[in-house]
Amino acid sequence: MSYVLLHTLFCFLLLLPFSTIAQTNGTVDVGASITAGDRSTTPWLSASQDFAFGFKQLQDNNLFLLCIWYYKIPDQTIVWYANEGVPVSAGSKVGITAGKGLVLSDPQGRELWSSTPILNQVAYGSMSDKGSFVLVGGGSVNIWESFKYPTDTLLPTQIMESGGVLFSRQSEKNFSRGRFQLRLLGDGNLVLNTRDLGTNFAYDAYYWSNTYDGVNVTNSGYRVIFNETGYIFVLTRSNQRELLRPTTVPPSGDYYYRATLNFDGVLTQYYHPKTENADPKTWTPLWSEPDNICVDIRANQGRWACGFNSICTIDDYQRPSCSCPEGYSLLDPNDKNGDCTPSCGDYNRDLYDLSVLIDTDWPLSDYEQLNPSSEEVCRNSCLQD
Ligand SMILES: *[C@@H]1O[C@H](CO)[C@@H](O)[C@H](O)[C@H]1NC(C)=O
Ligand SMILES: *[C@@H]1O[C@H](CO)[C@@H](O)[C@H](O)[C@H]1NC(C)=O
Ligand SMILES: *[C@@H]1O[C@H](CO)[C@@H](O)[C@H](O)[C@H]1NC(C)=O
Ligand SMILES: *[C@@H]1O[C@H](CO)[C@@H](O)[C@H](O)[C@H]1NC(C)=O
Repeated sequence: MSYVLLHTLFCFLLLLPFSTIAQTNGTVDVGASITAGDRSTTPWLSASQDFAFGFKQLQDNNLFLLCIWYYKIPDQTIVWYANEGVPVSAGSKVGITAGKGLVLSDPQGRELWSSTPILNQVAYGSMSDKGSFVLVGGGSVNIWESFKYPTDTLLPTQIMESGGVLFSRQSEKNFSRGRFQLRLLGDGNLVLNTRDLGTNFAYDAYYWSNTYDGVNVTNSGYRVIFNETGYIFVLTRSNQRELLRPTTVPPSGDYYYRATLNFDGVLTQYYHPKTENADPKTWTPLWSEPDNICVDIRANQGRWACGFNSICTIDDYQRPSCSCPEGYSLLDPNDKNGDCTPSCGDYNRDLYDLSVLIDTDWPLSDYEQLNPSSEEVCRNSCLQD
């Protein structure tokens, strides 16, 4: 009898850690908290465990990002982040309070970020299976949800209202706001544009959805919807759907989806198998906008896809690859997509030379037009300039 009891107890103890995780329904009580770098606290999981909310360590340094990520897949892709993407040090804490909702504080207890606005008392938090962290008040009313404050990614069932914005990151590993935006304008157009990092001034759009009708506003867009089965469209006031890309999306039972404004300015919808054994085991692009960002950003002011003086080539996935021309090098060696500057040694050369770059153009920056001309005349003119 005692053997049976012991045996049962043993099994129970063995099962305990698994069953506590498996039993989560995504609910997080007021007063609960997670500390960055503390391995004894687990992230807050959604009921299906598709998504987690908590701190993720960035690279090898001691910095942590408060974020939501796809929990079950190997690369644990981050789909939302707090604090405008600025990471925090080990010992920082996030908790849920009734009055302010989510509060992120540094190891000294100073508040760094909170979920605003919170207009009613919070009853509990919930990591939903759709990927949104929700704060719920009395009467089960949603007071705040991360889906309403997107960062660089949209997920199925997420809606972007008129005035909504996605910001690209600075780079793959730096989540601070970068210089590309996806905006749903008040006039109904969904646009991609670059901006000035200092003033936030928006430069001309390099993609637009054509969902603006100046004559008849009922034909104008007012919402971007990423629906459950993976289709993304602008909804017009007359209830027409304008798909961002007419395409067939693989079945939602088998695949996760996301649409991300990549750090290089390309908006891409991806899919990823839900099970481990299926291929491919990574995020596969379904479509990207624009078609060729190297030529589609053609502004009179501001940087284009790459930095100043940089050469842009497009890869098989419509992503730009930036490189400096001969005699130039990166101003910031860590920023491959940044500006190129003449390498020091070349300044003192008495003799100039011309090198041939195939299929390369610097549009809108021609000094002169010689017409008629020949290659020989053009070369001599340049060398004597
Ligand atoms: C989730 O589980 C907790 C405790 O296990 C329970 O108190 C709460 O009512 C549940 N919430 C929902 C929304 O089912
Ligand atoms: C991210 O980039 C910004 C702008 O270049 C910089 O100020 C910040 O320190 C970077 N953050 C990290 C964590 O490296
Ligand atoms: C505006 O567009 C809607 C939907 O296309 C159409 O039904 C309506 O007649 C139009 N109104 C005018 C004034 O043209
Ligand atoms: C999502 O949108 C597509 C395109 O309009 C439509 O065919 C599909 O039925 C929608 N899915 C759901 C779940 O409404």
